[in-house]
Amino acid sequence: MSQPIFRFEFDFDVPVPEGTEALLLRCARQCLRAEGVSLPSAAYLRFTDDDSIHQLNREYRQVDRSTDVLSFPSAAFSPRQTAGHAPQLLHREWDPELRACVLGDIVISMDHVRAQAAEYGHSVTRELAYLTVHALFHLMGYDHMNDKDKEQMRAMEEKALNAAGISRVSDDELIAKAKDAMQFSYSPYSKYKVGACLLSADGRLFTGCNIENASYGATNCAERTALFKAISEGAREFVTIAIAAEKSLPWPCGICRQALNEFAPDLRVIVACGDERDEMNLRDLLPHSFGPSTGTGDYLGKD
Ligand code: THU
Repeated sequence: MSQPIFRFEFDFDVPVPEGTEALLLRCARQCLRAEGVSLPSAAYLRFTDDDSIHQLNREYRQVDRSTDVLSFPSAAFSPRQTAGHAPQLLHREWDPELRACVLGDIVISMDHVRAQAAEYGHSVTRELAYLTVHALFHLMGYDHMNDKDKEQMRAMEEKALNAAGISRVSDDELIAKAKDAMQFSYSPYSKYKVGACLLSADGRLFTGCNIENASYGATNCAERTALFKAISEGAREFVTIAIAAEKSLPWPCGICRQALNEFAPDLRVIVACGDERDEMNLRDLLPHSFGPSTGTGDYLGKD
């Protein structure tokens, strides 16, 4: 799927941290991608304070208290139906001026955002990203009235946040786990130990090390060990890989780039050696790649 198109119409009653708009746009695109919405989409997002959200909550929902976020969907999805499965409903919300289908309105109280960020021990921007993603899935027909729906909505939120690089797992943690994985490296021939840690879109971590062989060509790199472990346990979408080595920055070899490209052409690739680290996107490490949707790629999903 190419990059989904999303537009926010922002309204500021109160200030927000610098960079918020770009961050939320990145999150919104990942929500569309996770949901499989390919129509250009948009939402109105107003940042306000507790007093104003309290008023809105009373007026529109007859709930007499302030809250963190309110969402007002445009389309009426029927139960069990979400935006990705109802393009015809979304299409009715087409706004010629915005050149997008309007998913609805979101209101966020910055007073609540700050309080919740402090309570959960994370940044104001992470809390903002989470609330926006939560609201966007509401606008796309998700709810959390029962445990099953709640679980499904949480999984979608997690997927979008991870893909937007706002994972619960920090880069430092990924690198630490990649370094830990180096201890299991079987590399008697090269003596070049490599460890990798791969983060899947559903939040799981898979580690791997390089495994050499007396017949050198049978060697498996750390990245592919981690990738194959992940694939064999059902993970199919990935967000970030951290790769660590002792002797130099271990940029992945060509075979690993190709193997990773099959599942995650947009993967963040972080390399680390001691205190040194660097990062690139797989798209830049493997330009003009041959992947599932090129050439004979038509076979995917077909017999
Ligand atoms: N190696 C990796 O594990 N990952 C890479 O991306 C580059 C190379 C391993 C393979 C071999 O065991 C050793 O490093 C030296 O090539």
